[in-house]
Amino acid sequence: MERKTDLDKDMAKILITAEEIEAITERLADQIDHDYRGSGKKLLLLGILKGSVVFMGELMKKMTLPVEIDFMKVSSYGAGTSTSGRIKILLDIHRNDLSETDIIIVEDIIDSGRTLSYLKEYLELGGAHSVRTCTMLDKPSRREVDFTPDYRGMEIPDEFVVGYGLDYAEQYRALPYVGILKPEVYKK
Ligand code: IMP
Ligand code: MG
Repeated sequence: MERKTDLDKDMAKILITAEEIEAITERLADQIDHDYRGSGKKLLLLGILKGSVVFMGELMKKMTLPVEIDFMKVSSYGAGTSTSGRIKILLDIHRNDLSETDIIIVEDIIDSGRTLSYLKEYLELGGAHSVRTCTMLDKPSRREVDFTPDYRGMEIPDEFVVGYGLDYAEQYRALPYVGILKPEVYKK
């Protein structure tokens, strides 16, 4: 049964149900398991705070390979519903075994593509054995830089979405589905 929350009333539409997200994470976990089995390296799921937390928790539970987890936090100098150009690292990882580590950066959503293209290059330059990217959602129509994730849950249209980790003004992250807010919510 779908969990009822106080925030359901703010939703214009549920775009992806909890059951659909469950199927998406299962498919991605199977793909990753398949691709990294027998790699001989450590596998690190690197979540980008805060949006990736719910998705990454689900993804790692569905994987069968042993994984380590870590987190980075970045800011893109944007608030509310828009993303601006520059990326700043607010929380970094500190490991001395990067050359023995395959990293999968885990994101909630790709919009302009700037966050993931920056972080991928940053970790490659940092000496990781390999770096791939996994995103729950992708808005390809919004790209400002050419970027294609290695693992992608679902493409969505150019709509601002919340839930399953994604926020608007720090709210709605705990919703078990992904939805589109009613326009009047932004005007409060
Ligand atoms: P990018 O660097 O433009 O690809 O930024 C991706 C980041 O923008 C995500 O990690 C989110 O924090 C944020 N973002 C982009 N689209 C949405 C959305 O529809 N809802 C909530 N956050 C979003
Ligand atoms: Mg984010």
